[in-house]
This record gives sequence, structure tokens and C-alpha cells, in this order.
Amino acid sequence: MICVKKHKINNQKIMSKTILITGGAGFIGSHVVRLFVKKYSDYKIVNLDKLTYAGNLENLMDIQTNPNYIFEKGDICDSEFIHGLFARHNFDGVIHLAAESHVDRSISNPMEFIHTNIVGTVTLLNAARRSWEGRYDGKMFYHISTDEVYGSLGSTGLFTETTSYDPKSPYSASKASSDHLVRAYNHTFGLPVVITNCSNNYGPNQFPEKLLPLAINNIKHKKPVPVYGKGENVRDWLYVEDHARAIDLVFHKGKNGETYNIGGNNEWKNIDLINLLCNIMDKKMGRQEGECASLITFVKDRAGHDMRYAIDATKIRTELGWKHEVTFAQGLEKTVDWYLANTQWLENVLSGDYAKYYEQQYKLR
Ligand code: NAD
Ligand code: DAU
Repeated sequence: MICVKKHKINNQKIMSKTILITGGAGFIGSHVVRLFVKKYSDYKIVNLDKLTYAGNLENLMDIQTNPNYIFEKGDICDSEFIHGLFARHNFDGVIHLAAESHVDRSISNPMEFIHTNIVGTVTLLNAARRSWEGRYDGKMFYHISTDEVYGSLGSTGLFTETTSYDPKSPYSASKASSDHLVRAYNHTFGLPVVITNCSNNYGPNQFPEKLLPLAINNIKHKKPVPVYGKGENVRDWLYVEDHARAIDLVFHKGKNGETYNIGGNNEWKNIDLINLLCNIMDKKMGRQEGECASLITFVKDRAGHDMRYAIDATKIRTELGWKHEVTFAQGLEKTVDWYLANTQWLENVLSGDYAKYYEQQYKLR
């Protein structure tokens, strides 16, 4: 039986559920927060974010005054704060996205990833366990993970939910570790959990350290577009709003203890993807055909660079009825348009420590 609690916000509205979304000021998190705030006006949505370099409240300007939305600034590793937060809000569910998420940064600074992704996740698990005290009916701890935990594929095959874990970077090893801990809390303490492992997301609001927004920004400014190695590594791209819709579905319909893979069925070699982007940018920027592609610069490869990721999303499709709705052509066009239109967002993001990061990351390549 689902236990429905009632909460009042500003003495106005009866709320049926209170949900904690961690990392809601980040790329994917902001799309998830927006979807939930708009779709479930009877839910109270609490967005907890530390606002690291990747967290940006500008991502949520359009919903920040909604009566069912609350922002809490804080660190998922701060046990006292997290226990207090659970006591104050009495959450029915947790959707956990907060993480250090960039593979290159995990190579230059692994400890930050161990701390946030592993210790932070256990801190949340402990708080959920204590807050729910074995009264688990209607509760759900939903952990958002990545396809990178499965390691690297050869030229054939797909990751399924039963593929053995074989993480290769400090980032993916920290995410794999957090997945194991989430499952351990399910097995040992009976905490209701669900995990999804998703492929590469793209779309508006992605921090321009990741391939697509970095390339769009560099092309716009006629700067070299760095492609690691020979550009032959393959990624499976999914539009971020399709991921957010999958998260909504899994949060409400996913089965306790289960894992679901989410992917775009949309594999691209990096170099082919960048060439496609260059063609689009030539047209959008009114440049001559081939002008943007002339910016492509092959640079030193990422250490331990995983060759190929590709997801088999049969389970979420057949068991929960999810499918992606945005075609790659539509998604890429929307993404490019968004970055070209939101110059102030980009400038604000780039004005922080980004220049220092960029200099360090790309100077030796
Ligand atoms: P992101 O880096 O854009 O956002 C991460 C957010 O977490 C930021 O808002 C940041 O401020 C916050 N955060 C970081 N450390 C925190 C802490 N200690 N306490 C509270 N908040 C903290 O990341 P993203 O790309 O949106 O990824 C979100 C989640 O989805 C991550 O768990 C990531 O592993 C997973 N994922 C990402 C992708 C992808 O392609 N981006 C694909 C699959 C899974
Ligand atoms: O697969 C899911 C993962 O996708 C998520 O778990 C991660 O959080 C997310 O960052 C992403 O990881 P990748 O390493 O695949 O994404 P990134 O955008 O960093 O790189 C995509 C590919 O492009 C990868 O093969 C490395 C390459 N690349 C990246 C950058 C930043 C380049 O060739 N040049 C670059 O400058």
C-alpha cells in the first residue's frame, strides 16, 4: 500500500509527496527538476545542490518561483546537514543525481570523485535508512548511474543489465562503487532502491567541458576543436529530455531492487559526430562549407580512453514502455540553437574557473 502524506506549502496547497532531487542545478538534474515541478504540481520538489562549478541556478530560472519548488544549498557528504534535511522535509523519495561527472577531471583529481560519488551516496543512503526506519512502504531511493560502469565494448555487442561491471576510469569506478553500495543497502537493510545506467546525454545546459558544448563553443569562437586520439571512440547519444522522461517513469513504475539501462540506440564515432556538428554550424553561422571542420584538431588521447559504449535498452522499453522521442537530428539542432541563443548563460559559465581548467586540460595535448 502506498502511504500518502500531506504537506502544505505557504498554507496553500496540499502536497501528496515530497521528493529530494540531488544535483538538480546540474545538466541532467535541472531537466529532471523542471519536468517534476511542472508535471506534478501536487509534489513538493526539494533540489539539493552544492553548486560546484557544474551547478548553476540559472538552469532553473523559469521554475524558481513555483510554489512546489524549494532549493537547498548543501553538500551530500555533510552527514549532519543531510540528516537534518531529511528530518525537516520527511522525504517520500530520493532521485540522486549529484556527482562529479567529468571523466577528464577524474583523471587529474580522483579524490574529489571518490569523496562525492562514494561517500556522498552512502551519506544519503544512511539518511534515507534512518529517516524511513524500516517503514519502507511507498518509499524509493533512485540512484542515477552511467553506462561507463560496464567498461568498454569492442566493435560489436551492447551493454545489458547483466553485463559484468568493469569500470576503467576513476569516474566510472567511483560510480560503480556507489551502485554496489546502493544494491548492498537494498540487500542488507531492505531499503527500496532502483538504479538506471544511461548512455551519453546531450542538450541545453550541459557544462562546456563535455564534448558537444565544448565543440559548439569553440566553433562559435573559431577556436580549435580538440578531438582525442583519432576520434574513433564511439558513444551512444541520448537527448537529455528523453533521459528525464525515463527517470520519471522509473521513479514511478520501476521495481524495487531492479536496474534499467537507458540509451539512445544512436552510436556515433566522435569524429563523425564532430563533422556532422561542423556541417550544421557552417549553415547556422553563415560560414562557407568546410570552414568549421577546418577547426578540428587531433590532440593527445585521454588516458585509458574507453573505446565504445552502446546500450541495450530492451528492458525499460518492454517492461516500462519507455522509448526516446527526440530524433538525433532534432536534438542536435535544438542543442546548437540553444547554445547560440543563450550567449549570456555561456558567458557566465565561461567566466568562472573555466579558462584555467581549459588551459590545464588542453595545453599538453
Ligand atoms: P553535472 O556535473 O552537470 O551536475 C552535477 C551536479 O551535482 C551539479 O549541479 C553539482 O553542483 C552537484 N554536486 C556535485 N557535488 C555535489 C555535492 N557534494 N553535494 C551536492 N551537490 C553536488 O552532471 P550531469 O551530467 O548532469 O550528471 C548527473 C548524474 O547523471 C551524475 O550522477 C552522472 O554520473 C549521471 N550520468 C550522466 C550522464 C551524462 O551524459 N552527462 C550520463 C549517464 C549518467
Ligand atoms: O556514457 C555516459 C557518460 O558520458 C557519463 O557518465 C559522463 O558523466 C559524461 O561526462 C559522459 O562521459 P564521456 O567521457 O563519454 O563524455 P565526454 O563529453 O567527456 O566525451 C565524449 C567523447 O568525446 C569521449 O570519447 C572523449 C571525446 N572527447 C571529449 C572531449 C571533452 C574529445 O575527443 N575531445 C574533447 O575535448
